[in-house]
Amino acid sequence: MEYDFSFCNPTVIHFGKSAMNHLADELNKYGRNVLLIYGGGSIKKIGLYDEVIRILTECKKNIVELPGVMPNPTWKKVEEGNTLVRKHKIDFILAVGGGSVIDLAKGVANSALCYDPDPFKKYWIDDAPVDNPIIPIGAILTMVGTGSESNGGSVITNEDLKIKTGRVFPLETSAPRFAILNPEFTYSVPLYQMKAGIFDIFSHLMEQYFSGEDDNVSDYLIEGLMKSLIRNTKIAIKEPTNYEARSNIMWCATVALNGLVGRSKQQDWEVHAIEHQLSAITDCTHGMGLAAISVPYYKHIYKYGLAKFKRFATEIWGVPDVGSDEEVALQGIEALRGYISESGMVLSIRDLGVDSLDTIREIADSTEEGGGYKQLDHDEIYKILLESYNLTY
Ligand code: NZQ
Ligand code: ZN
Repeated sequence: MEYDFSFCNPTVIHFGKSAMNHLADELNKYGRNVLLIYGGGSIKKIGLYDEVIRILTECKKNIVELPGVMPNPTWKKVEEGNTLVRKHKIDFILAVGGGSVIDLAKGVANSALCYDPDPFKKYWIDDAPVDNPIIPIGAILTMVGTGSESNGGSVITNEDLKIKTGRVFPLETSAPRFAILNPEFTYSVPLYQMKAGIFDIFSHLMEQYFSGEDDNVSDYLIEGLMKSLIRNTKIAIKEPTNYEARSNIMWCATVALNGLVGRSKQQDWEVHAIEHQLSAITDCTHGMGLAAISVPYYKHIYKYGLAKFKRFATEIWGVPDVGSDEEVALQGIEALRGYISESGMVLSIRDLGVDSLDTIREIADSTEEGGGYKQLDHDEIYKILLESYNLTY
């Protein structure tokens, strides 16, 4: 293990069909004024809203609601939550939904009691340490992918600035105190969203895997998760109510981004940086944006991390170790392309609302330059986006 680290993930996970039985006990640990945050209505359709209200009421909580959190949640929506926290002296935030709802809840938890004139700049752009009280949050997860249920990430879109950016708050202060993970709550997720969530998980694993040259146990953990994810993707697409597949995917998502498998790794995250600006400008679904960028991105950088890309090909996709290292590595990236295509995920940003070269330039120029095995500049980012647009990779 090349780099030293400290690690503690504080989220208590209640997993499985009976996970909701733990909600009352968890809620009883916190104060009476609860802000219930949720999205556009799916939790009402699946009956979860009624159940949550019943339990909150039995726990004698005063319930304040913040509905209508949109995918790619906005800073304006965070401000709406902040106003409610201050007005109702909120003690605890309960987020019920997918990554967007939980990310927004973390945004409110960290910024509601910040009296700085511009909390977005302070916490999301300048990355300043949080120096105001933070409201504790809990999560009931209904859509799998981001890992937000057990990490400190809060990805927020500032529409005025046309920036979508993630702040990773410390796990100790800002990860949900508990997360209820019942795979059955995810059965109603539309297929497109389910596939997007699956690719999001795959991307989180790749972003952490493609870095470093040392022998690191984190890489072996990631390989195991990737293999399980590939196997269960096929099953879940064919049979969305297959509990074994959906539960494996759910736990895979949590472990993929709760901090564990990134230990002692430099990590990459440039695919995410590009996707965040793609989403900021097109409002596309996060996981599909990642799918459309990944193959051209990895084709662009694989020579700089050849040994790891070769290992990806042989370990994950079973590519025979025949021919040059480059040929083997490229076959691995081709296998990734096959997985995206056969699973019905998106291969081109053209299918996500990008309709002109000007838009591509706008995305490229507003993306933060960075990378893992290779540092990219804006022209290289433009080229990768162009290849996705024209499907020339
Ligand atoms: O709003 P509702 O009606 O609930 O509908 C949602 C939404 O339209 C729907 N949905 C959720 N659960 C459902 C359901 N529909 C039917 N049945 C259910 N059980 O799914 C749609 C998408 O939900 P969303 O929360 O947006 O999806 P996801 O979990 O993929 O979250 C995406 C956001 O998380 C950020 C992304 O950038 C994006 O903004 N990320 C957060 C990360 C983190 N915190 O660490 C890391 C990720 O890389 C990512 O950037
Ligand atoms: Zn992601």
